Amino acid sequence: MAGIQIIGTGSAVPEKILSNDDMSTWLDTSDEWIYKRTGIKRRHIAAEGEGAHDLAIRAARQALERAKEADSGFSEEKLIAVITASMSSDYICPTVSCIIQEELSLPEDITAYDINAACTGFVYALQNAFRMLKEDKDGYVLIVGSECMSRLVDYNDRSVCVLFGDGAGAAVLRFDPSDESMFLPIAGTKGSRKILYCRKPPVSDGFLHMNGQEVYRFASNSLRTAIERLLERSGLSIEDIDQVVCHQANARIIDSVRRRFPGAEDKFYQHMEEYANTSGASVALVMNEMFQKGILHENMTIICAAFGAGLSWNAVLMTI
Ligand code: ACO
Repeated sequence: MAGIQIIGTGSAVPEKILSNDDMSTWLDTSDEWIYKRTGIKRRHIAAEGEGAHDLAIRAARQALERAKEADSGFSEEKLIAVITASMSSDYICPTVSCIIQEELSLPEDITAYDINAACTGFVYALQNAFRMLKEDKDGYVLIVGSECMSRLVDYNDRSVCVLFGDGAGAAVLRFDPSDESMFLPIAGTKGSRKILYCRKPPVSDGFLHMNGQEVYRFASNSLRTAIERLLERSGLSIEDIDQVVCHQANARIIDSVRRRFPGAEDKFYQHMEEYANTSGASVALVMNEMFQKGILHENMTIICAAFGAGLSWNAVLMTI
């Protein structure tokens, strides 16, 4: 088989922090209610004028620097693509990826596009990058997840605004041709414009709307299904998996899934307490933190899994 190596990761979050207690000063909510139901304590919120592209540039720059330190054969000239997962950029066009190419003076003979797939965007970027690297085995791909969800939530809607935060994560990938490496992608879709949607003005208010309980059911089922199907396809068991890197939407969703895999409870890292749900940036952000803490490192077998608006879900079982 073949797979990918993650040679550098990075992240960026806005300076401003909004705690549950802060939000309870204008909303009929409390730290106790939010934390008990979601595992979230606080979130980072972009300053005025700070957009998803700004966070993406910072995260990408850090990932590129770390990739150069880790791999002497890497330089920006070797990049064949930049793919960014984002649905909350201030710019409808150009894409965040094109802005990254401009700001970081990346080569012009490069593919650059964004994926608007809400919370599943970064795992789709991972899947697309693998296909590109299979075609161009000496190349490298920069993938980014970046969101300013604060632009899309109504801060008077307590059922939605408490769940989201802003942030970005990035990773530089290269092809791994070794027989021991593995990359198994999987995805699923259950299209719905009613359960979780955000519609632009003037046809609607431009805010994210959600039926929380329906999303909860979909998320728990799809996360569990994704892991089970990948284990089945790979012939591996959960004992063979070092870490499951999950979309950080809600601690209760992850907890309900990890209980299905007895003995692997400590393989489901969580950090939504600090960042809340950063949608397309979430898997990128948590992956970077796991690398920086040494929870992820090379020669591991991991699963990355996400779910969200669409409704959509996706996952990858891979060696890194
Ligand atoms: N503070 C206090 N009360 C609240 C709040 C709040 N922030 N939000 C809702 N409530 C109230 C409701 O109004 C309702 O009151 P009522 O009984 O008087 O009508 C009560 O709490 C219960 O509401 P539910 O929606 O039934 O609460 P539930 O226990 O289902 O928890 C939650 C809500 C946390 C949103 C849960 O449904 C959930 O986690 N869903 C998944 C959401 C998710 O993960 N979305 C992101 C994935 S998709 C993406 O990432 C784009």
